[in-house]
Amino acid sequence: MARTAVDLLAMKAGSERIAMITAYDYPTARLADAAGVDAILVGDTLGMVVLGHDSTVPVTVADIVYHTRAVARGARDALVIGDMPFFSYQMSDEQAMRTAATLIQDGGARAVKLEGGAPVASAVRRIVAAGVPVMGHVGLTPQSVHALGGFKLQARTPASANRLIDDALALEDAGAFAIVLELVPLALAEAVTRRLRIPTIGIGAGPGCDGQIQVLHDLIGLDGDPERGHRPRHAGHYADVGVAIREAIRRYAADVRSGQFPAPDNAFAGSAELRAFLADGAAIRPVNPVS
Ligand code: KIV
Repeated sequence: MARTAVDLLAMKAGSERIAMITAYDYPTARLADAAGVDAILVGDTLGMVVLGHDSTVPVTVADIVYHTRAVARGARDALVIGDMPFFSYQMSDEQAMRTAATLIQDGGARAVKLEGGAPVASAVRRIVAAGVPVMGHVGLTPQSVHALGGFKLQARTPASANRLIDDALALEDAGAFAIVLELVPLALAEAVTRRLRIPTIGIGAGPGCDGQIQVLHDLIGLDGDPERGHRPRHAGHYADVGVAIREAIRRYAADVRSGQFPAPDNAFAGSAELRAFLADGAAIRPVNPVS
């Protein structure tokens, strides 16, 4: 039975930890689903880890819809959440509702996520009232990277910690079913988690959250430049898939050049009749017969 936002709420009530991951295409969605994650986020991080941008800012609604469709086809049990990209909800509640409707109707998501606290609470309220589960996201909100001055730890002072708690409470009050806490001090994440009835999903926020999310590519080392060693400190190190892919392609290219590939097993002999015909060079009609 496919997981729902209601199931995630029940998991918090039952003190069950929630495992989430991002995915952006059919095969990784299938793999994540088969691995048993509770929810898959089609995050706007796809702009960075799939499309090669240096932030999530250029990602469009069409990008998210395109990738969410593929993920929705691959995820049978996990809850699929579509991320609302930069400036697809900040202009008005109506714009936010339209974007949420597009991700649900065209993309096949079963919930949406947006960034920000109290300023987006009324949009959250409207989307939830329309029947769409909404996940919030506070702390480091990557769509505001230019205003925040980089991807760095947030809420470092008592005043900003209080603001973050108020933002989380405003989202809960507006009807959000869960909130991502990104790059916040772990004691603050614990305090927010204790205050909320809805689950907190941490990324770089320590073990005190109700669940965790990671960007798949960080977790498995799927980077176009594996030697660069770019792996955020908060991401676990579970595989070196980038190195494995590059090595497989390097060996393939070497085998093509040396004639080792394709091997007889990779080719098709055809029927005995065809082989006999082709062996008789005289029987083969010239490509451009001269009359
Ligand atoms: O876009 C994304 O992948 C995210 C996660 C990092 C939470 O927002």
